[in-house]
Amino acid sequence: MLRKIKKIVAGEEKVDGAGVSLTRVIGKPNVHDFDPFLMLDAFDHKDPEKYTKGFPWHPHRGIETVTYLLEGEIEHGDSLGNSGVIRNGDCQWMTAGSGIIHQEMPQAAPRMLGTQLWVNLPAKDKMTVPKYRDFKNTDLPQINNDDCRVKIIAGQYDGRTGPMEDITVQPTYLDVTVKPGAGFTFETDPHDTLFIYIYSGTLLFKADRDKELPTRVAALFEAGDELHVKGGEKGARFLLFAGKPLKEPIAWGGPIVMNTKDELALAFEEINKGTFIKEHQPDGSVTSSKVHEDYYR
Ligand code: CO
Repeated sequence: MLRKIKKIVAGEEKVDGAGVSLTRVIGKPNVHDFDPFLMLDAFDHKDPEKYTKGFPWHPHRGIETVTYLLEGEIEHGDSLGNSGVIRNGDCQWMTAGSGIIHQEMPQAAPRMLGTQLWVNLPAKDKMTVPKYRDFKNTDLPQINNDDCRVKIIAGQYDGRTGPMEDITVQPTYLDVTVKPGAGFTFETDPHDTLFIYIYSGTLLFKADRDKELPTRVAALFEAGDELHVKGGEKGARFLLFAGKPLKEPIAWGGPIVMNTKDELALAFEEINKGTFIKEHQPDGSVTSSKVHEDYYR
């Protein structure tokens, strides 16, 4: 059965971090609809004033953050001692797990165009070992045919598999460009959450009598095993996200997302006490690390 549009969201203009303008496409108000996805922020700026103040040191726990940058440059560093640069077509998939403190600082560029997605972690993995994975543009498989170009960040398309594999919710994350009037089909498990975000152009939806959606909106779909879309007059570029819903309680406080209010309160207490960052021992036990005290200041 073809998937029909269930909900269209345009998102809200927000300022976050130390003063970064962004569009919060999905977030707290519609979190249960998009489970296991928590948040999608979109950035598109030509004026560096809108983004270079960045996101200075801040904590995360219980989630994964996925930064995918089409244009521009973001420098990052974290409490594990990692640092690097994400640029032009690269993707960084960070598992915050038991806790990470990091900063994400966009650098001035002719244009900053990209998104950050938050994927929830199930209760059993909320306190897992934190992990960073950086994928260069060239690490991400691309499929080109007469109708479209599909870049795979996670999951599978047309027999190819993206590099991002060891994630509990096994999401699919595709960057799709369809030519004007050309079609794109995607098969899913019928009850997986599926949504898209249109970066540019317009898209027509077969199951909704060719209803046309404009740039910069997200569409969430009803259950079904196939999505069929067609590029509008100028074609379209969109991101596609699919994943199994976790169906667990959500306790969300800023950059930390747990299952219960007590877990959330504990996280903030640990930030205040300087015991937020954990060390994972070989026997599976977890202790608070004092190594990274500097990051709490
Ligand atoms: Co962050």
